[in-house]
Amino acid sequence: MTPVKIAPSLLAADFARLAEAVDMVNRSEAAMLHIDVMDGVFVPNITVGFPVIASLARIATKPLDVHMMVTDPGRFVGQVRDAGADIMNVHVEACTHLHRVVQSIRTAGMRPAVTLNPATPVCLLEEIISEVDMVLLMSVNPGFGGQKFITSTVDKIRRLRALMASAGVSPMIEVDGGVNLATAPDLIAAGADVLVAGSYVFNAPDPTQAITTLAHITPSRQ
Ligand code: DX5
Ligand code: ZN
Repeated sequence: MTPVKIAPSLLAADFARLAEAVDMVNRSEAAMLHIDVMDGVFVPNITVGFPVIASLARIATKPLDVHMMVTDPGRFVGQVRDAGADIMNVHVEACTHLHRVVQSIRTAGMRPAVTLNPATPVCLLEEIISEVDMVLLMSVNPGFGGQKFITSTVDKIRRLRALMASAGVSPMIEVDGGVNLATAPDLIAAGADVLVAGSYVFNAPDPTQAITTLAHITPSRQ
């Protein structure tokens, strides 16, 4: 069985020791490094910007998965690329011209991903699904780490897989929020390819081992 890909979220790391956190992720089984950018408008919190991402990119050996929780993220495609992102995740709810933003992400040389808030239905992806490399389903309302997992996300993954099948495409499915050893087996069984994990990883006594354990967890029986 292919292990599920793990994307540790630096939001739960000690921001005074980000280099140590990146080094841990470099040496771990993580598939990518998840960086949460928040603008205080789209979500009620503010995190890091381009200078921090650029500094982290210089020491990271895993691809950077940059999750833009900002209004009108299309304004920042060039800056996200120049900072060193591999994947740029934009919220459907934050883009008036989503198709244009997705295309500009690809033209800039990054892999486009689109993100849905918990209340946003998968049917809104119908016209964009064949243009993206990944879909991120939020399993908490974005803005903060350490929140409770929204269980309806498991069925939402199944609905997304059905939409992908009818379009004949297979972008990766990523899930973000409240991922831990209790919630991951159902997510993997439903078809998640990438699990973002913040507090589960960085609050663990041994974060490297926590990543390995999550990557090899047994899916629930369907
Ligand atoms: C929340 C962020 C998440 C956050 C997840 O808005 O997008 O990436 O770090 O944190 P946990 O894993 O603690 O729910
Ligand atoms: Zn995130």
